[in-house]
Amino acid sequence: MVLSTGNTKTRTAVFISGTGSNLKSLIKFSKTTKSPISIDFVVSNNSKAKGLNYAKLYKIKKKILNFKNKNISENKLLSILKINNIKLICLAGFMKILSKNFIKKFKGKILNIHPSLLPKYKGLNTHERALNNNEKYSGCTVHFVNSKLDSGKIVLQKKVKISKNETEASLAKKILVQEHKLYPKAILKVFSL
Ligand code: GRF
Repeated sequence: MVLSTGNTKTRTAVFISGTGSNLKSLIKFSKTTKSPISIDFVVSNNSKAKGLNYAKLYKIKKKILNFKNKNISENKLLSILKINNIKLICLAGFMKILSKNFIKKFKGKILNIHPSLLPKYKGLNTHERALNNNEKYSGCTVHFVNSKLDSGKIVLQKKVKISKNETEASLAKKILVQEHKLYPKAILKVFSL
């Protein structure tokens, strides 16, 4: 895969908007010897994102951009990522939609994690919709990002059984535990392609 840079780990940025539990799991993974990536940058559109604390804790550079003017924010971001030699982007609970132009510049080098079994339940409120439809299973998906929302090539998925008294909160929690395992696995897969 073009992402691999021999013996050195591929410099990776993680984009977040909230809690950052996936960021934390990716940082932990990145520190293992088997990891092909290092986390060198954290980007958030939300200055109050709890996940920014992990950047502080692990001494990772960070940038907050409000995306009010998407074009300006993205252009700033592109130059920052270039200066920092970032070769891979992992979206992890990032609530902004990147423009076609941005995605083109990082073609095939942006991954996202989504809390449903794509192509089912793209977009928001996935758990609510899965429960309303009486689904027996839900889960999570890691996929490449293309210009259509939650529609890029699927790397890996993990199925989770929905129990009888499942609530949105309990389902979200159950799926999140699997997300933390799936994202590192998906990264290993992407580098072996
Ligand atoms: C995850 O469920 C992710 O799939 C979704 O947003 C949530 C982010 O959680 N897109 P966290 O910020 O990684 O804890």
